[in-house]
Amino acid sequence: MPLGRPIEEPAPLRAGRVELRVIRGRDADPLRALLSRNRGWLQRWEATHPSGRSVTPGSVSMKPTVKALRRQLRAGSGVPFVVMLDGEVVGQLSVSELSGGALQSAQIGYWVSEHVAGQGVTPVAVALAIDYLFAELGLHRVEICIRPENAASLRVVEKLGLRYEGKRESYIHIDGAWRDHECYVVTREEAGAGMLARLRDRGVPGA
Ligand SMILES: CC(C)(COP(=O)(O)OP(=O)(O)OC[C@H]1O[C@@H](n2cnc3c(N)ncnc32)[C@H](O)[C@@H]1OP(=O)(O)O)[C@@H](O)C(=O)NCCC(=O)NCCS
Repeated sequence: MPLGRPIEEPAPLRAGRVELRVIRGRDADPLRALLSRNRGWLQRWEATHPSGRSVTPGSVSMKPTVKALRRQLRAGSGVPFVVMLDGEVVGQLSVSELSGGALQSAQIGYWVSEHVAGQGVTPVAVALAIDYLFAELGLHRVEICIRPENAASLRVVEKLGLRYEGKRESYIHIDGAWRDHECYVVTREEAGAGMLARLRDRGVPGA
């Protein structure tokens, strides 16, 4: 069940060198180039269709994808951001599985290009997104599910201090098979003064 109302496009969210902005048509070409260049870096962690009909990211125009992603705002079903560092698009952060009603929850997924990995971009981007989802959309809970093998992504939720909730077996079809995922959550009450403030309190660089 989506949120039950259209989502107004948020203004860009910024902290230090990192910016989150809703994806738009002009991102299609740079994103395609970035996805194509990062095949080896991303493939292991990418969602695939169980039918085997997945299109290799970066191999086709992203324009229809960008349109479809933007439709999520009107449908109240998701918020598709690009991640920017120093004004350049370096990845994507997607808010999906938006549920309204008695749940008020969402999931977050993300990737950044290998050439900016290890600079603390993703923890800041995720903090900006969670703070927006709680403060502006009024959500109650955000979750991030990660393959147990993905040490870099597990570090992201560790830096953010998300609460480990448990393992979901064969949960998402990733890189051609159903994969177990470790799920991490934060509720609005747990977030207190916010995730960006939490990163700053913890001395995480870039926040
Ligand atoms: C997971 C990912 C988003 C982390 O983003 P990031 O902006 O690099 O995050 P951070 O800078 O906080 O780095 C997190 C950890 O990655 C690891 N790391 C750093 N540089 C790295 C590099 N060049 N290559 C691989 N791992 C690296 C380190 O363990 C780091 O933790 P540390 O800061 O304690 O050393 C990024 O690695 C990525 O896009 N990976 C491929 C796609 C993916 O896994 N998406 C998530 C699916 S759940």
